[in-house]
Amino acid sequence: MGRSAVKHGTRRLKNKDPVSPNNQHEQLDPPPQLSPYHSFALLETEHLRKSLLAWYDRCKRDLPWRRLANTESDLDRRAYSVWVSEVMLQQTQVASVIDYYNKWMKKWPTVHDLAAASLEEVNEKWSGLGYYSRGRRLHEGAQKCHRRSSVVLEMGGRIPRTADDLQRLLPGVGRYTAGAVASISYGQVTGVVDGNMIRVLCRLRCIGADFSSPAVTDALWNLANALVDPARPGDFNQAMMELGATVCTPKKPMCPECPLQSLCRAYKKVELESTSALSKYVYRRADSRPGIISDIEECAAMSCTLCIPSSAPWDPSLGVANFPRKSAKKPSRVEQTVTCVWERRGSVGEMEYLLVQRPQTGLLAGMWEFPSMLLEKDHTVEERGCIVRSRLQDVTGRQVPVEELRFAGEVVHIFSHINQTYLVYFLSLNHPESACIKGEDTEHPMYRWVTRELFLDSAVSTAMKKIMKLCESKNLLSDCTDTTKKRKRDITGLQPSARKVKMEEKQRSIQSFFKPTTKK
Ligand code: ADE
Repeated sequence: MGRSAVKHGTRRLKNKDPVSPNNQHEQLDPPPQLSPYHSFALLETEHLRKSLLAWYDRCKRDLPWRRLANTESDLDRRAYSVWVSEVMLQQTQVASVIDYYNKWMKKWPTVHDLAAASLEEVNEKWSGLGYYSRGRRLHEGAQKCHRRSSVVLEMGGRIPRTADDLQRLLPGVGRYTAGAVASISYGQVTGVVDGNMIRVLCRLRCIGADFSSPAVTDALWNLANALVDPARPGDFNQAMMELGATVCTPKKPMCPECPLQSLCRAYKKVELESTSALSKYVYRRADSRPGIISDIEECAAMSCTLCIPSSAPWDPSLGVANFPRKSAKKPSRVEQTVTCVWERRGSVGEMEYLLVQRPQTGLLAGMWEFPSMLLEKDHTVEERGCIVRSRLQDVTGRQVPVEELRFAGEVVHIFSHINQTYLVYFLSLNHPESACIKGEDTEHPMYRWVTRELFLDSAVSTAMKKIMKLCESKNLLSDCTDTTKKRKRDITGLQPSARKVKMEEKQRSIQSFFKPTTKK
């Protein structure tokens, strides 16, 4: 959902502080008209809220951001802790986020701490979490909140206090994040629609049209805003998302455990279909409790924009997972990149690896990587070797002896829209002087040599970590922990300090092989 000018808080009472507990029972704006098949009657809404929240109170996961949101009394700290979690959770599973979240909050417990950090530090902490622009935008947003200058007087050094303002004033905060932060931290009665919510709502109300279409998007936001519990908006929104994440899952949903089963039209549809005695055209009373489940089992609207389109029929094997539906995804771009892990022995004896910084815009902006080159077309093995050599020459500013260049293998990494194959080369030049490079010592170096430990703490993508792992698994790294290789290296029988002296002598002898360094 983009940063549209869509207004939040369809159910907010004017002139009331959304933070105030008095804000809990508000006048409803008249709900937009949706076909009864795709919406909830008043009694159904009440039943849904009650069942869902009871389930959430029993079954919710104990997550660090929930604990913070429940115990933190300072509004800015609370909103910041929720904001960070919601940004991290976009496109990322809870299990992968927890560790990142804890480390982040330890390093930057307030929005002001984050504002004071450098982008490099932010990228380092985000390394491995993917979609790196999220971290950059969060950092920009924190700086915007922190500034008390005239530029953002509106914020006055605080995090905006309503969903509309959060969305309007903070970079990277769209309608979903704004609604989540405002409802969870401030108790604003506003709905949210994320991937989990889309799935749950589409199943509950048999919405089978492309969920990215404007008609479905509008319908889902209207449903979310109409359903959210005015007494516990933050918990309600989290409960719906929790249900989507743990019970109403994309594949193999656990319908028998679902607290909303009796309200689920998709479940009812599947039940009806599998009851052989009844054809799908037979209508029956669905529930004996009056008003809880209506007996509407088909949409009455003519050419409904929310129903499954006739061009994409129902698949019985999928059951409730027929919902939701998205139009066919644009196929990912397929790309090949050559990359070179170049190691040298650093001045204190530890192996070091060359990293190059990516441009500040575009994919993986500002992140560090092994010297790499995107291939424009298919190349022969020889051509690829030449490309690697010319890239290394480009980086170092001089000819690189590539006799030792070895092909290590391939690493495939899937970005959101790119299927990237890295063709990995390995080069070991065992002398620091040999591997000095242009611009290394400038104030803002584009290149740096890092130890393995530093590499793991650098702002590098998961793909680079996979590449390092590949080289390790192939026993290419001189310091790799492989025992056979260690044994081989230890046959000198020398103590480590003596080995180091010996190695330095050897390095001196090969020094003549390289041209002297000319620093630019
Ligand atoms: N997904 C994104 N935010 C969430 C939250 N607060 N609770 C559960 N699932 C979520």
